[in-house]
Amino acid sequence: MTTNVARAIAHSNIALIKYWGKSNSTLNLPAVPSLSLTLDGLTSTTSVQFDATLDSDQVQLDGKLTLGREQARVVAMLDRVRALAQIDTRARVSSHNDFPTAAGLASSASGFAALALASSSAAGLELGLEALSALARQSSASAARSLFGGFVNLLADAESAQQVAPSEHWDLRLLVAVTEEGRKPVGSTEAMEITKRESPYYAAWLAHAPNLYREAEQAIQHRQFDTLGASMEQSTLMMHASMWATRPAILFLTDATLSVMHRVRTLRGQGLPCYFTIDAGPHVKVLAQAEHAEEVERELAVLDQVLRVIPCAPGPGARLTTDEGPLC
Ligand code: PMV
Repeated sequence: MTTNVARAIAHSNIALIKYWGKSNSTLNLPAVPSLSLTLDGLTSTTSVQFDATLDSDQVQLDGKLTLGREQARVVAMLDRVRALAQIDTRARVSSHNDFPTAAGLASSASGFAALALASSSAAGLELGLEALSALARQSSASAARSLFGGFVNLLADAESAQQVAPSEHWDLRLLVAVTEEGRKPVGSTEAMEITKRESPYYAAWLAHAPNLYREAEQAIQHRQFDTLGASMEQSTLMMHASMWATRPAILFLTDATLSVMHRVRTLRGQGLPCYFTIDAGPHVKVLAQAEHAEEVERELAVLDQVLRVIPCAPGPGARLTTDEGPLC
């Protein structure tokens, strides 16, 4: 090993066209194409140090030692990196999110993208973006997209994501309306498996998702805001509808979520262009063009159901950093 320590920064991405469902659960390959925007906010910073004196991997998230499933997912990524680098040294991992973890704000996307880059680099590997994206995908498919900046796709059955357009292509904003601080009740992997197994709407979702992807990709290329917004809302609602049709239903949407969705539609009816999207959590992310973003943000911030609004612009891909500052 030439080096044994590295630190990386990655940003969350929000899917405008959703990934929901796996074509291969073992390899973690997506069943549908997705299209996301990498954000400049919602950042994970992760440092990894391989240390020959350690008996086991030590994983800290936001200053707390993790155990159970959370730790196992990190160790699984470290095991893949160790196999590639042909080492068996254990590692110390410390990761910090500047936003609530596991609450439907895509913490696994930024977290595993940063971990893929930091751990492979600390192990002395020099992987290209495509290989890093494939490494991240095995932990969390949405993480594959956070290696790249701007508009990014992950096609059905694809091993890695690719950039569709750089962040400068279109000055959009995603306003993240946070509706609660707690953790989500069920993780996305489990919820996807239940949907695939039990939802009578899953087949319809698989059949229609590629059309929405194509429509949104064209809309991005031609900067057609209303078309992108309409396909984004339909993708979100079809994804959630597929979950609502399981028994018992998987409900990520709360009263607060629904209120914000209605408010977005009312604002749009009044001539303020904005569209919503919702992931595996209660928060609402609202898409707006830069020139309308402040007005939309003000309208969201005054709602009783909204704790705070995090305005995000298109952001860069993952990168290594030499910043030595404390993590938490
Ligand atoms: O990558 P995962 O397993 O965290 O799943 C992400 C699923 C959604 O956030 C709901 C959609 C997406 O494409 O990011």
